[in-house]
Amino acid sequence: MPYDTLYDPAAIPASYRGYFEEVQVTCGAPWKRVTEKGAPIARWQRRCGADPSGGYNGQPGKAYGEALAQDPAAVKRRILEGLRERLTLGWEPTCDCDAGPPVPCTVLDPFAGSGATGAVAARLSRTFIGIELKEEYCRIAAGRIGAALRARPAASPSEAANPPAVRPGLWQVSRDGDPRGLALYQRHYSARRYADGRPRRLFVGPGEKLVLITPEADALLVWRKFRSRSGERGVNCAAFRNEGTGKSSALIREAVRIAWERWPGERLYTYVNPAKIESPNPGYCFKRAGWRSCGKTRSGLLVLEALP
Ligand SMILES: C[S@@+](CC[C@H](N)C(=O)[O-])C[C@H]1O[C@@H](n2cnc3c(N)ncnc32)[C@H](O)[C@@H]1O
Repeated sequence: MPYDTLYDPAAIPASYRGYFEEVQVTCGAPWKRVTEKGAPIARWQRRCGADPSGGYNGQPGKAYGEALAQDPAAVKRRILEGLRERLTLGWEPTCDCDAGPPVPCTVLDPFAGSGATGAVAARLSRTFIGIELKEEYCRIAAGRIGAALRARPAASPSEAANPPAVRPGLWQVSRDGDPRGLALYQRHYSARRYADGRPRRLFVGPGEKLVLITPEADALLVWRKFRSRSGERGVNCAAFRNEGTGKSSALIREAVRIAWERWPGERLYTYVNPAKIESPNPGYCFKRAGWRSCGKTRSGLLVLEALP
């Protein structure tokens, strides 16, 4: 039995979609997954030689310094420390060509064997090209890929005519300076302009930043962690603008989840300027997303917060 028949496409988790990237239409550059290390995986650490608490107290058996080598025990400690969950925060382009949402790429397997990769590509609606030397394997591959195609849920007529170009998920992680984000930011009431009229390139102040943009580039939400002069603690929602048809409260909820993946346990806060907002209930979409009013700044801005 070839080894790849043991590799069951149906058992592949959705996160493996990352193997089959999406690409920018104009230049073909792939989008990349933005990840962050999460909690340690204790079982994995122990299997690799850690003690029950995930640490490692082994000592080098040889005089590694004389050989100008690293301390092998310290290297092992570092590796064990790195055995953590990998959290996907989102996806971002690897180029600046600003061609809009990416399109699914074509998967090529030049050694296709019995077609496990082709079957996964079919399941994830990717175009697949496979090359295989042995006729017998080609037949098996055709059968498996055909079965994977038949097992896919039928697309609705509108989906069939216009297949989704981006993976489901309300937000993608972008970066400060993304021209699509900059355009949305500049239409926000709080956008700052340089006194000398110079064009703005970046739209987030200094500190740790997390820029979220919808795949259609019709909404922007910016998280920024910095030392606030007004004494607010936590992570600031520095801008939120929704020009799309998606519900603002749903976008905020999802952005909160992403923020807490990145900054677990942190208070989140934002300012709303009631003088610049037409709504009789300023901050309504934040409140709908579970935020609460917690005071006012000296200049009259409302402060809203979400607590973990
Ligand atoms: C390990 S299997 C590939 C498994 C496959 N990539 C998958 O994901 O299911 C390697 C395959 O490469 C094929 N192969 C080896 N040399 C080849 C060649 N020059 N051209 C095409 N196929 C070749 C072998 O017949 C074998 O079936």
